Order: sequence, then C-alpha cells, then structure tokens
Amino acid sequence: MNKSITARAHTNIALIKYWGKADPKLIIPQNSSLSLTLEPFYTDTTVQFLPTLDQDQISIDGQLLTNVAGLRVREFLDLVRQRAGIQTFARVASTNHVPTAAGLASSASGFAALAAAASKAAGLELSLPELSRLARRGSGSATRSIYGGFVEWQKGHNDADSLALPFQENIDFDIQMIAILLDPRPKKVASRAGMAQVVATSPYYAAWPPTAEKDLLAMKAAILKKDLNLIGQLAETNAMKMHATTLSANPPFTYFEPETLQAIEIIQNLRNNGISCYYTMDAGPNVKVICSAKETPAILAQLRQHFPADHLLVAKPGPGIAYI
Ligand code: PMV
Repeated sequence: MNKSITARAHTNIALIKYWGKADPKLIIPQNSSLSLTLEPFYTDTTVQFLPTLDQDQISIDGQLLTNVAGLRVREFLDLVRQRAGIQTFARVASTNHVPTAAGLASSASGFAALAAAASKAAGLELSLPELSRLARRGSGSATRSIYGGFVEWQKGHNDADSLALPFQENIDFDIQMIAILLDPRPKKVASRAGMAQVVATSPYYAAWPPTAEKDLLAMKAAILKKDLNLIGQLAETNAMKMHATTLSANPPFTYFEPETLQAIEIIQNLRNNGISCYYTMDAGPNVKVICSAKETPAILAQLRQHFPADHLLVAKPGPGIAYI
C-alpha cells in the first residue's frame, strides 16, 4: 500500500462500434464490438493511496479537477477501494498524450490507465480480463484499451462476463489509420447521452444490435484473411449504420459537421481513383481513415489540399497497457 504506480494505456478506435447499453449502471453493451488500438495516442496515469488525504485529489494535464468534474473518477476509485477493502483516498495525476484539441476520445485510454494504476496501487493483482472488466465500469470503450492490436469486447450478460479479449495482438499485415481533426470543440452530445437517446427513441435502433453482431463475425473473418478492403468496407458501413440511428432519434441529432462530409467525399474520390481507403467516425465530427502505410503518402497528399497538415495524424497499431 501507499505505493505510487504509473500505467500507460493507448486509445482505440472501433471498427465495429459499441452503441447502446443494455445496463447503463454496469455498462453492459447491447452488442459486441471490435477495435484497433493506436500507437501515438495514450494516457499516463499515476495513482497513490495516501492516508494523509481527506479527499481524492485528481488532476488531468496538470489541472486539478473540481468535485463535480472529478465525480466519474471518484466513483471509479470507490469501486477499486471496495474491491481492495480499503478506505484511503488517492492522489491521481493523468497526462493525455493526444495532441491538444484533437477531439479524439481520451476516455478509453484514460479509464484503462486508471484501472491499471489504481488497482495495483490499492494492492490488487488483477489479470488482464479482470482489468478489462474494471475499466468497463469507467467507460465502455476503455474495456478494449487493455490490449493492443485488434481487440474484441464480448458483450456478455453481466458484470462477470462482459469483457474484452485480444483478437489479434501482433498484426502482421499493413493497416493503419489517419485521424482527420475537423473540430476541436467538445462534442455536442456526449456518447453516453447520445446512446441513451437513441436506444430510447429511435425506431431503427432495434435493427442495430443484430446487424452489428453480423458485421463483427464478418470483420473477424476479414482480419484473419488480412483483407484490408473488406475490413474497410465493413467498418465504413457499420459506422454509418450507427450514425443513422442518431438522425432517426427523437429529437434527432447528428455528429456530422460540414467538414465531415467534405472529408468523406475526398475518401470516396480517392477510392474511385484506385486507392484503398475507408472512413469511420465516432461520437464526434472527426473522420478516421483506414488504409495501408503503403498508400498513406498518396492519401495525405490529397487531404493536405483541403485540411491543415497538423490536423492529419497518422496512427499505427499500438500495444496494450504497461506499467512504467
Ligand atoms: O464508452 P464511450 O462513452 O467512449 O463510447 C464509445 C462509443 C463509440 O466511440 C461511438 C463507439 C466505440 O465502440 O468506441
């Protein structure tokens, strides 16, 4: 106890999206999902439980969080304390190594790093699947950031069996992503609120879980075949099916911005010219391009004609969590 532990976790982008909760409190999803962990974007989190503290002290990128802003982290620390049978408060310091204003979700890497650092600092020795279950309680996408490469979150039915497992940690074919940063502002509708609204009101939502499960099976086969075109096609259609549920919600909403459509058109044009590239999007306007390293220079050259060079971030597949 009282040891200071630092863990690093990388963010991930889903190729088959998690969208909608079956149990909002435990964060059990309506469908299984599959992601790619990314190398350049990660969070380092240091946790130390200290008997001298009279409340949790949480800072992100050097900024001390207020009680309200730190609520999700404190609730997560309560879970860890409960598991470890301790009452001590903790000092948590987190640094996001995602370019500022990237608008890429940091909750995946953030809660995965917190789960790893806090559990170890509290004296728990959790296996990777147990860490994945714990990270899930902070943020759904964090469930997958425990592992590197392609990762599958098996939805399960309860707290014990809803967890991620590596699908292919060491990727031996050419695949990477380009993140196109279009809008640095905080998302208009947080993923948590967006999902809840869609599940409750979209008449199309019922079609989502079964179609996502079918896409997941096809995606796993495409990865085993190392078929970049099939992976890209499946990821793109899966993402657009997810986004269709927001337009059909009541009230309707969308994560698309005008620049999102512009980026999509550029990708489609590149593809019509024989370059393999596909797009995916999460609960925000930024577009992520799925492509090979080989064709990345040609894609970047085209994108640079429309977007600032420093808004185009190339991301190779990344590793799972590590203690540093
Ligand atoms: O767990 P959250 O709140 O980060 O939700 C993630 C939802 C999506 O990014 C849209 C899809 C996904 O599977 O990551």
